[in-house]
Amino acid sequence: MLSRVSPEEASHSLRGALERKLIKDEDSAAVFYDLSRMESRINELTGLFPDDTLHAVAAKANPLTSVLKSLNLLGAGLETASLPELYLAEEAGFAPGSIVFDSPVKTIEEIKHALNAGVHINIDSWGEFERVQKLISDGASHGNIGLRVNPQVGIGDIEITSVGGTYSKFGIPIEEYYEVIVRKYLENEWLNGIHVHTGSQGCGIDLLARGIKVVYELAKDVNRRFTEMGKEPGIRIFDIGGGLPVSYSGSQKTASMEEYRDLLRRQCPELFTSDFKLITEFGRHIHANNGWALSRVEYIKESGGRKTLAVHLGADMFIRKCYQPEIWHHDITVTDARGNLKLLSPTTYAVSGPLCFAGDMIEQEITLPEVKQGDYLIFHDVGAYTLSMWSRYNSRQIPKIIGYYSSSDEMSIIKDREAPSRVWEFWS
Ligand SMILES: Cc1ncc(COP(=O)(O)O)c(C=O)c1O
Repeated sequence: MLSRVSPEEASHSLRGALERKLIKDEDSAAVFYDLSRMESRINELTGLFPDDTLHAVAAKANPLTSVLKSLNLLGAGLETASLPELYLAEEAGFAPGSIVFDSPVKTIEEIKHALNAGVHINIDSWGEFERVQKLISDGASHGNIGLRVNPQVGIGDIEITSVGGTYSKFGIPIEEYYEVIVRKYLENEWLNGIHVHTGSQGCGIDLLARGIKVVYELAKDVNRRFTEMGKEPGIRIFDIGGGLPVSYSGSQKTASMEEYRDLLRRQCPELFTSDFKLITEFGRHIHANNGWALSRVEYIKESGGRKTLAVHLGADMFIRKCYQPEIWHHDITVTDARGNLKLLSPTTYAVSGPLCFAGDMIEQEITLPEVKQGDYLIFHDVGAYTLSMWSRYNSRQIPKIIGYYSSSDEMSIIKDREAPSRVWEFWS
Protein backbone atom coordinates (compact mmCIF):
# COMPACT_ATOMS: atom_id res chain seq x y z
CA MET A 1 0.00 0.00 0.00
CA LEU A 2 2.05 2.94 -1.29
CA SER A 3 -0.75 5.37 -2.12
CA ARG A 4 -1.61 8.66 -0.46
CA VAL A 5 -4.30 8.62 2.24
CA SER A 6 -7.55 9.37 0.40
CA PRO A 7 -10.29 11.67 1.76
CA GLU A 8 -12.50 8.59 2.28
CA GLU A 9 -9.80 6.80 4.30
CA ALA A 10 -9.08 9.88 6.41
CA SER A 11 -12.80 10.32 7.09
CA HIS A 12 -13.07 6.62 8.06
CA SER A 13 -10.15 6.90 10.50
CA LEU A 14 -11.45 10.17 11.92
CA ARG A 15 -14.84 8.57 12.60
CA GLY A 16 -13.02 5.66 14.28
CA ALA A 17 -11.07 8.06 16.49
CA LEU A 18 -14.21 9.99 17.43
CA GLU A 19 -16.10 6.77 18.24
CA ARG A 20 -13.21 5.59 20.44
CA LYS A 21 -13.20 9.06 22.08
CA LEU A 22 -9.54 9.53 21.18
CA ILE A 23 -10.46 13.02 19.97
CA LYS A 24 -11.94 15.15 22.72
CA ASP A 25 -13.43 18.64 22.72
CA GLU A 26 -10.11 20.14 23.78
CA ASP A 27 -8.47 18.62 20.67
CA SER A 28 -9.01 21.54 18.40
CA ALA A 29 -6.35 19.98 16.15
CA ALA A 30 -4.75 16.53 15.83
CA VAL A 31 -2.31 14.68 13.61
CA PHE A 32 -2.85 11.13 12.32
CA TYR A 33 -0.09 8.83 11.11
CA ASP A 34 -0.66 5.51 9.30
CA LEU A 35 2.01 3.04 10.41
CA SER A 36 0.83 0.41 7.89
CA ARG A 37 1.84 2.71 5.07
CA MET A 38 5.23 3.33 6.64
CA GLU A 39 5.78 -0.42 6.91
CA SER A 40 4.92 -0.85 3.21
CA ARG A 41 7.42 1.84 2.24
CA ILE A 42 10.19 0.21 4.26
CA ASN A 43 9.35 -3.23 2.87
CA GLU A 44 9.41 -1.81 -0.66
CA LEU A 45 12.83 -0.26 -0.08
CA THR A 46 14.36 -3.39 1.38
CA GLY A 47 12.97 -5.41 -1.53
CA LEU A 48 14.47 -3.11 -4.16
CA PHE A 49 18.02 -2.57 -2.89
CA PRO A 50 20.70 -5.18 -2.10
CA ASP A 51 20.07 -7.12 1.13
CA ASP A 52 22.92 -5.56 3.10
CA THR A 53 21.84 -1.95 2.32
CA LEU A 54 21.38 0.23 5.39
CA HIS A 55 18.17 2.21 4.96
CA ALA A 56 18.87 5.08 7.36
CA VAL A 57 15.56 6.96 7.38
CA ALA A 58 16.01 10.73 7.85
CA ALA A 59 14.95 11.50 11.45
CA LYS A 60 14.42 15.17 10.55
CA ALA A 61 11.42 14.22 8.41
CA ASN A 62 9.51 12.70 11.33
CA PRO A 63 11.13 12.26 14.75
CA LEU A 64 8.11 10.93 16.68
CA THR A 65 9.55 8.40 19.07
CA SER A 66 6.84 5.77 18.34
CA VAL A 67 7.63 6.12 14.67
CA LEU A 68 11.37 5.75 15.35
CA LYS A 69 10.82 2.65 17.47
CA SER A 70 8.67 1.10 14.73
CA LEU A 71 11.34 1.87 12.12
CA ASN A 72 13.90 0.12 14.30
CA LEU A 73 11.66 -2.94 14.64
CA LEU A 74 11.22 -2.98 10.86
CA GLY A 75 15.01 -3.27 10.45
CA ALA A 76 15.61 0.26 9.16
CA GLY A 77 18.38 2.55 10.38
CA LEU A 78 18.26 6.26 11.17
CA GLU A 79 19.97 9.27 9.60
CA THR A 80 20.53 11.95 12.23
CA ALA A 81 21.73 15.51 11.80
CA SER A 82 22.11 16.88 15.32
CA LEU A 83 23.19 15.59 18.70
CA PRO A 84 19.57 15.36 19.94
CA GLU A 85 18.60 13.40 16.82
CA LEU A 86 21.49 11.06 17.56
CA TYR A 87 20.18 10.78 21.12
CA LEU A 88 16.70 9.97 19.78
CA ALA A 89 18.23 7.19 17.65
CA GLU A 90 20.05 5.71 20.63
CA GLU A 91 16.99 5.93 22.89
CA ALA A 92 14.79 4.33 20.21
CA GLY A 93 17.11 1.32 20.29
CA PHE A 94 18.95 1.63 16.97
CA ALA A 95 22.27 -0.22 16.99
CA PRO A 96 25.30 2.07 16.44
CA GLY A 97 25.98 0.44 13.07
CA SER A 98 22.52 1.43 11.85
CA ILE A 99 22.87 5.11 12.77
CA VAL A 100 24.28 7.70 10.37
CA PHE A 101 25.40 11.04 11.82
CA ASP A 102 25.30 13.93 9.35
CA SER A 103 25.37 17.59 10.34
CA PRO A 104 27.08 20.54 8.72
CA VAL A 105 28.26 22.03 12.04
CA LYS A 106 29.45 19.23 14.32
CA THR A 107 31.23 20.43 17.45
CA ILE A 108 34.31 18.62 18.78
CA GLU A 109 32.19 17.20 21.61
CA GLU A 110 29.61 15.90 19.13
CA ILE A 111 32.29 14.31 16.97
CA LYS A 112 33.86 12.67 20.03
CA HIS A 113 30.48 11.30 21.11
CA ALA A 114 29.71 9.93 17.64
CA LEU A 115 33.17 8.38 17.18
CA ASN A 116 33.01 6.76 20.58
CA ALA A 117 29.46 5.47 19.95
CA GLY A 118 30.68 3.78 16.75
CA VAL A 119 27.98 5.29 14.53
CA HIS A 120 28.59 6.03 10.85
CA ILE A 121 29.77 9.66 10.53
CA ASN A 122 29.69 11.65 7.32
CA ILE A 123 32.24 14.46 7.37
CA ASP A 124 30.88 17.65 5.84
CA SER A 125 33.88 19.99 5.51
CA TRP A 126 37.69 20.11 5.59
CA GLY A 127 37.55 21.76 9.01
CA GLU A 128 35.59 18.81 10.33
CA PHE A 129 37.96 16.42 8.54
CA GLU A 130 40.90 17.87 10.48
CA ARG A 131 39.07 17.44 13.79
CA VAL A 132 38.23 13.81 13.05
CA GLN A 133 41.75 13.10 11.82
CA LYS A 134 43.24 14.55 15.00
CA LEU A 135 40.90 12.61 17.30
CA ILE A 136 41.68 9.36 15.48
CA SER A 137 45.43 9.95 15.49
CA ASP A 138 45.08 10.59 19.25
CA GLY A 139 43.59 7.10 19.55
CA ALA A 140 39.81 7.62 19.37
CA SER A 141 37.85 4.48 18.52
CA HIS A 142 35.41 4.86 15.66
CA GLY A 143 32.93 3.23 13.30
CA ASN A 144 32.70 3.84 9.57
CA ILE A 145 33.50 7.31 8.31
CA GLY A 146 32.49 8.89 5.02
CA LEU A 147 33.09 12.20 3.28
CA ARG A 148 30.18 14.23 1.94
CA VAL A 149 30.88 15.39 -1.60
CA ASN A 150 28.86 18.08 -3.34
CA PRO A 151 28.52 16.78 -6.92
CA GLN A 152 27.82 20.30 -8.26
CA VAL A 153 25.33 19.03 -10.81
CA GLY A 154 22.81 21.85 -10.40
CA ILE A 155 19.68 22.65 -8.46
CA GLY A 156 16.13 21.39 -8.78
CA ASP A 157 12.79 23.23 -8.91
CA ILE A 158 12.94 24.27 -5.24
CA GLU A 159 15.96 26.32 -4.32
CA ILE A 160 15.73 25.93 -0.54
CA THR A 161 15.86 22.14 -0.73
CA SER A 162 18.56 21.89 -3.42
CA VAL A 163 22.09 21.32 -2.19
CA GLY A 164 23.97 20.09 -5.27
CA GLY A 165 24.60 23.42 -7.02
CA THR A 166 27.92 25.11 -7.74
CA TYR A 167 27.55 26.69 -4.31
CA SER A 168 26.16 24.74 -1.38
CA LYS A 169 26.61 25.07 2.35
CA PHE A 170 26.98 21.28 2.47
CA GLY A 171 29.80 18.97 1.50
CA ILE A 172 33.15 19.25 -0.26
CA PRO A 173 32.67 20.68 -3.76
CA ILE A 174 34.00 18.16 -6.24
CA GLU A 175 35.18 20.58 -8.92
CA GLU A 176 37.46 22.59 -6.64
CA TYR A 177 38.82 19.64 -4.66
CA TYR A 178 38.85 16.51 -6.85
CA GLU A 179 42.53 15.66 -6.40
CA VAL A 180 42.55 16.70 -2.74
CA ILE A 181 39.65 14.35 -2.09
CA VAL A 182 41.49 11.49 -3.81
CA ARG A 183 44.62 12.16 -1.74
CA LYS A 184 42.70 12.23 1.54
CA TYR A 185 41.36 8.74 0.85
CA LEU A 186 44.77 7.40 -0.16
CA GLU A 187 46.39 8.84 2.98
CA ASN A 188 43.73 7.98 5.57
CA GLU A 189 42.70 4.34 5.71
CA TRP A 190 40.00 5.11 8.30
CA LEU A 191 38.08 7.04 5.61
CA ASN A 192 36.04 4.21 4.09
CA GLY A 193 32.80 5.82 2.93
CA ILE A 194 31.52 8.46 0.54
CA HIS A 195 28.28 10.43 0.77
CA VAL A 196 26.18 12.44 -1.65
CA HIS A 197 22.79 14.11 -1.20
CA THR A 198 21.79 16.37 -4.08
CA GLY A 199 18.53 17.66 -2.67
CA SER A 200 15.04 16.96 -1.51
CA GLN A 201 11.55 17.59 -2.98
CA GLY A 202 11.97 19.40 -6.31
CA CYS A 203 14.93 17.36 -7.50
CA GLY A 204 13.71 14.82 -10.06
CA ILE A 205 15.31 11.38 -10.31
CA ASP A 206 17.47 12.40 -13.29
CA LEU A 207 19.14 15.14 -11.24
CA LEU A 208 19.48 12.89 -8.17
CA ALA A 209 21.00 10.13 -10.28
CA ARG A 210 23.36 12.60 -11.98
CA GLY A 211 24.66 13.67 -8.60
CA ILE A 212 25.22 10.08 -7.53
CA LYS A 213 26.89 9.17 -10.85
CA VAL A 214 29.45 11.99 -10.52
CA VAL A 215 30.42 10.81 -7.04
CA TYR A 216 30.33 7.16 -8.13
CA GLU A 217 32.91 7.90 -10.85
CA LEU A 218 35.06 9.61 -8.21
CA ALA A 219 34.74 6.61 -5.87
CA LYS A 220 35.73 4.23 -8.67
CA ASP A 221 38.70 6.42 -9.53
CA VAL A 222 39.84 6.43 -5.88
CA ASN A 223 39.50 2.65 -5.67
CA ARG A 224 41.38 2.19 -8.96
CA ARG A 225 44.27 4.18 -7.56
CA PHE A 226 44.29 1.98 -4.44
CA THR A 227 44.45 -1.10 -6.69
CA GLU A 228 47.31 0.40 -8.70
CA MET A 229 49.20 0.80 -5.41
CA GLY A 230 48.60 -2.90 -4.72
CA LYS A 231 46.09 -2.11 -1.95
CA GLU A 232 42.51 -3.08 -1.25
CA PRO A 233 39.95 -0.47 -2.43
CA GLY A 234 39.52 2.23 0.23
CA ILE A 235 35.91 3.25 -0.37
CA ARG A 236 33.64 0.41 0.71
CA ILE A 237 30.49 2.29 1.69
CA PHE A 238 28.45 4.47 -0.66
CA ASP A 239 25.75 6.66 0.90
CA ILE A 240 23.34 7.85 -1.81
CA GLY A 241 21.42 10.23 0.50
CA GLY A 242 17.67 10.73 0.20
CA GLY A 243 15.60 13.09 -1.88
CA LEU A 244 13.05 11.06 -3.85
CA PRO A 245 10.17 13.53 -4.36
CA VAL A 246 6.62 12.61 -3.41
CA SER A 247 3.23 13.60 -4.73
CA TYR A 248 1.18 16.16 -2.80
CA SER A 249 -1.83 16.12 -5.14
CA GLY A 250 -3.56 13.85 -7.61
CA SER A 251 -2.13 15.78 -10.55
CA GLN A 252 1.49 15.71 -9.33
CA LYS A 253 3.19 12.69 -10.90
CA THR A 254 6.44 11.54 -9.33
CA ALA A 255 8.78 8.65 -10.09
CA SER A 256 8.43 5.49 -8.03
CA MET A 257 11.24 4.10 -5.89
CA GLU A 258 11.50 1.22 -8.36
CA GLU A 259 12.03 3.60 -11.30
CA TYR A 260 14.68 5.42 -9.29
CA ARG A 261 16.43 2.15 -8.37
CA ASP A 262 16.34 1.01 -12.01
CA LEU A 263 17.88 4.30 -13.19
CA LEU A 264 20.63 4.07 -10.59
CA ARG A 265 21.32 0.45 -11.47
CA ARG A 266 21.67 1.36 -15.15
CA GLN A 267 23.94 4.33 -14.51
CA CYS A 268 25.97 3.01 -11.58
CA PRO A 269 25.89 -0.80 -11.88
CA GLU A 270 28.70 -1.45 -9.41
CA LEU A 271 26.73 0.17 -6.60
CA PHE A 272 24.57 -2.93 -6.76
CA THR A 273 27.46 -5.39 -6.41
CA SER A 274 29.58 -6.39 -3.44
CA ASP A 275 32.05 -3.61 -4.40
CA PHE A 276 30.06 -1.22 -2.22
CA LYS A 277 27.77 -1.44 0.77
CA LEU A 278 24.94 1.03 0.17
CA ILE A 279 23.32 3.45 2.57
CA THR A 280 20.10 5.30 1.73
CA GLU A 281 18.69 8.28 3.66
CA PHE A 282 15.12 8.70 2.45
CA GLY A 283 12.78 10.74 4.62
CA ARG A 284 9.98 12.35 2.68
CA HIS A 285 9.33 9.23 0.58
CA ILE A 286 8.95 7.10 3.72
CA HIS A 287 6.71 9.47 5.69
CA ALA A 288 5.00 12.31 3.80
CA ASN A 289 1.97 10.51 2.38
CA ASN A 290 1.24 8.57 5.60
CA GLY A 291 0.20 11.53 7.72
CA TRP A 292 -2.71 13.95 7.79
CA ALA A 293 -3.78 16.63 10.21
CA LEU A 294 -7.14 17.98 11.21
CA SER A 295 -8.36 21.18 12.70
CA ARG A 296 -11.79 22.14 13.87
CA VAL A 297 -13.14 25.22 12.11
CA GLU A 298 -13.52 27.48 15.12
CA TYR A 299 -15.00 30.50 13.37
CA ILE A 300 -16.03 31.64 9.92
CA LYS A 301 -15.10 35.29 9.66
CA GLU A 302 -16.34 37.68 6.99
CA SER A 303 -14.13 40.60 6.03
CA GLY A 304 -13.31 42.50 2.85
CA GLY A 305 -15.70 40.37 0.83
CA ARG A 306 -14.00 37.14 1.89
CA LYS A 307 -15.06 34.27 4.12
CA THR A 308 -12.17 33.08 6.26
CA LEU A 309 -12.09 29.70 7.98
CA ALA A 310 -10.23 30.29 11.25
CA VAL A 311 -8.47 27.07 12.25
CA HIS A 312 -5.97 25.83 14.85
CA LEU A 313 -3.02 24.98 12.62
CA GLY A 314 -1.09 27.57 10.68
CA ALA A 315 2.51 28.60 10.25
CA ASP A 316 3.37 26.69 13.44
CA MET A 317 2.79 23.39 11.62
CA PHE A 318 2.95 24.55 8.00
CA ILE A 319 5.99 26.82 7.97
CA ARG A 320 6.89 26.13 4.37
CA LYS A 321 3.34 26.32 3.09
CA CYS A 322 2.67 29.68 4.79
CA TYR A 323 5.97 31.30 3.79
CA GLN A 324 6.22 29.88 0.25
CA PRO A 325 2.60 29.19 -0.75
CA GLU A 326 3.46 29.10 -4.44
CA ILE A 327 5.75 26.08 -3.86
CA TRP A 328 4.23 23.95 -1.11
CA HIS A 329 0.79 22.38 -1.17
CA HIS A 330 -1.51 20.25 0.97
CA ASP A 331 -4.87 19.03 -0.31
CA ILE A 332 -7.75 19.90 2.03
CA THR A 333 -10.79 17.71 2.75
CA VAL A 334 -13.86 18.86 4.70
CA THR A 335 -15.85 16.70 7.11
CA ASP A 336 -18.68 17.49 9.48
CA ALA A 337 -18.19 17.32 13.25
CA ARG A 338 -18.71 13.53 13.15
CA GLY A 339 -16.07 12.97 10.51
CA ASN A 340 -18.45 12.44 7.56
CA LEU A 341 -17.14 13.76 4.24
CA LYS A 342 -18.72 16.92 2.91
CA LEU A 343 -18.81 17.24 -0.85
CA LEU A 344 -21.59 19.70 -1.74
CA SER A 345 -22.04 23.41 -2.46
CA PRO A 346 -18.57 24.59 -3.50
CA THR A 347 -17.73 27.88 -1.82
CA THR A 348 -14.66 30.10 -1.89
CA TYR A 349 -12.76 30.60 1.37
CA ALA A 350 -9.52 31.82 2.84
CA VAL A 351 -8.04 29.55 5.53
CA SER A 352 -6.22 31.28 8.38
CA GLY A 353 -4.03 29.88 11.14
CA PRO A 354 -4.08 30.87 14.82
CA LEU A 355 -0.85 32.89 14.98
CA CYS A 356 -0.48 36.63 15.49
CA PHE A 357 0.73 37.79 12.11
CA ALA A 358 -1.07 38.45 8.87
CA GLY A 359 1.00 35.96 6.88
CA ASP A 360 -0.32 33.06 8.93
CA MET A 361 -2.58 31.96 6.07
CA ILE A 362 -2.80 28.38 4.80
CA GLU A 363 -4.89 29.43 1.80
CA GLN A 364 -5.76 32.89 0.48
CA GLU A 365 -8.45 31.59 -1.85
CA ILE A 366 -9.62 28.02 -2.15
CA THR A 367 -12.86 26.38 -3.22
CA LEU A 368 -14.14 23.83 -0.72
CA PRO A 369 -17.49 22.19 -0.05
CA GLU A 370 -19.59 24.49 2.10
CA VAL A 371 -18.14 24.63 5.63
CA LYS A 372 -20.00 25.16 8.91
CA GLN A 373 -18.53 26.21 12.23
CA GLY A 374 -17.47 23.02 14.08
CA ASP A 375 -16.64 21.09 10.90
CA TYR A 376 -13.15 19.67 10.45
CA LEU A 377 -10.59 20.55 7.80
CA ILE A 378 -8.22 17.70 6.99
CA PHE A 379 -4.79 18.62 5.62
CA HIS A 380 -3.24 15.80 3.62
CA ASP A 381 0.35 14.55 3.26
CA VAL A 382 1.75 15.97 6.48
CA GLY A 383 3.83 12.93 7.50
CA ALA A 384 7.18 14.62 6.76
CA TYR A 385 8.67 18.07 7.40
CA THR A 386 5.57 19.58 8.99
CA LEU A 387 5.32 18.54 12.64
CA SER A 388 9.12 18.15 12.68
CA MET A 389 9.38 21.85 11.78
CA TRP A 390 6.92 22.94 14.49
CA SER A 391 7.39 26.61 15.40
CA ARG A 392 6.98 27.84 18.96
CA TYR A 393 5.63 31.24 18.02
CA ASN A 394 2.66 32.18 20.25
CA SER A 395 3.54 29.09 22.33
CA ARG A 396 0.71 27.07 20.84
CA GLN A 397 0.40 23.50 22.07
CA ILE A 398 1.64 20.73 19.78
CA PRO A 399 -1.49 18.73 18.98
CA LYS A 400 -2.25 15.14 19.91
CA ILE A 401 -0.80 12.53 17.55
CA ILE A 402 -2.79 9.39 16.76
CA GLY A 403 -0.98 6.43 15.25
CA TYR A 404 -3.02 3.82 13.42
CA TYR A 405 -2.72 0.79 11.20
CA SER A 406 -5.06 1.15 8.24
CA SER A 407 -4.50 -2.55 7.55
CA SER A 408 -6.10 -3.58 10.88
CA ASP A 409 -8.00 -0.52 12.20
CA GLU A 410 -5.77 -0.54 15.30
CA MET A 411 -5.45 3.00 16.65
CA SER A 412 -3.91 4.69 19.67
CA ILE A 413 -2.60 8.02 20.94
CA ILE A 414 1.16 8.02 20.35
CA LYS A 415 1.73 11.50 21.72
CA ASP A 416 -0.57 13.47 23.99
CA ARG A 417 -1.55 17.02 23.25
CA GLU A 418 1.12 19.19 24.81
CA ALA A 419 0.03 20.50 28.19
CA PRO A 420 0.54 24.23 28.94
CA SER A 421 2.93 23.13 31.74
CA ARG A 422 5.17 21.48 29.10
CA VAL A 423 5.20 24.76 27.21
CA TRP A 424 6.31 26.43 30.46
CA GLU A 425 9.13 23.86 30.72
CA PHE A 426 10.14 24.60 27.14
CA TRP A 427 10.57 28.30 27.92
CA SER A 428 12.14 27.75 31.35
C1 LIG B 1 21.86 14.68 4.21
C2 LIG B 1 20.42 14.41 4.01
N1 LIG B 1 20.02 13.14 3.85
C3 LIG B 1 18.72 12.84 3.68
C4 LIG B 1 17.74 13.81 3.66
C5 LIG B 1 16.32 13.40 3.47
O1 LIG B 1 15.80 13.89 2.29
P1 LIG B 1 14.36 13.44 1.83
O2 LIG B 1 13.47 13.57 3.00
O3 LIG B 1 14.00 14.34 0.73
O4 LIG B 1 14.45 12.01 1.38
C6 LIG B 1 18.12 15.15 3.80
C7 LIG B 1 17.10 16.20 3.76
O5 LIG B 1 17.32 17.35 4.02
C8 LIG B 1 19.49 15.45 3.98
O6 LIG B 1 19.90 16.71 4.15
